[in-house]
Amino acid sequence: MEVIETKEALTQALQSCRDSRISIGFVPTMGALHPGHISLVEQCRKENSMVVVSIFVNPTQFNDQSDLANYPRTLEEDLYKLSSVGCNYAFAPSVKEMYPEEDTRKFDFGMLDKVMEGVHRPGHFNGVAQIVSRLFDAVQPDKAYFGEKDFQQLAIIRRMVAMMNYPVQIVGCSIVREADGLAMSSRNMRLTPEQRQNVPAIAHTLLACKEKIGCMSLDELKNWVVDRINNTPGLQTEYFDIVDRDSLQPASEYKENALQGCIAVHVGTVRLIDNIRL
Ligand code: PAF
Repeated sequence: MEVIETKEALTQALQSCRDSRISIGFVPTMGALHPGHISLVEQCRKENSMVVVSIFVNPTQFNDQSDLANYPRTLEEDLYKLSSVGCNYAFAPSVKEMYPEEDTRKFDFGMLDKVMEGVHRPGHFNGVAQIVSRLFDAVQPDKAYFGEKDFQQLAIIRRMVAMMNYPVQIVGCSIVREADGLAMSSRNMRLTPEQRQNVPAIAHTLLACKEKIGCMSLDELKNWVVDRINNTPGLQTEYFDIVDRDSLQPASEYKENALQGCIAVHVGTVRLIDNIRL
């Protein structure tokens, strides 16, 4: 595996693949890699001849500066993990390399970013689109892999790709969970042992919610989920929404297989998200 720090070196390294039409798969990450990321890299490895993984903590997608400062950075360990799962190029640029000057682009995602994370993290998806478009320009992948834990992000990226006509196939990959159900996240490593014991309640509540579909109205179900989470020690719901899987707009009635329950929960200073198909 080669570690590359500049766009120019990456473009050069990948030029021969493009010339000989070797398929390039890409997994963008912010590092602090866990088995969820590794499963994306493994899927990418199976489906492409060349695997590129980026590690870049993107400042423009953090609306909270303390969240950016506290985001875990474990580059050495990340590179070690990537080298053992068949990554060909690890792209780990500096902030100056990705943003030589301020990115002032404003993306219009219609109603997709007017709900959930878009409301609670203003500017977040604009920052995600800024960096993902810059990474796509540098890598020019045939396929790019994103986890479904960030369900809204996946929809936003698909929209951005359509708007900007990128010739890349976006592959959504299932959430990878710990044995007790907790969705894997780089933020989990910031939980105290006590918080770690309590957070599986998030996934358990989402599963219970799925089973209760049809037994009560969607509004009652939403209240039931919020109460159950908030009654778990140390957990505070930021939002729980039941939305249409395509438009991401809040649903008013049950439609089979067309809805997604999406939640954000504060656990002390850590913020976790999860979702489930209903
Ligand atoms: O999902 C993430 O880790 C980030 O939002 C991404 C897609 C790597 C962009 O910084």
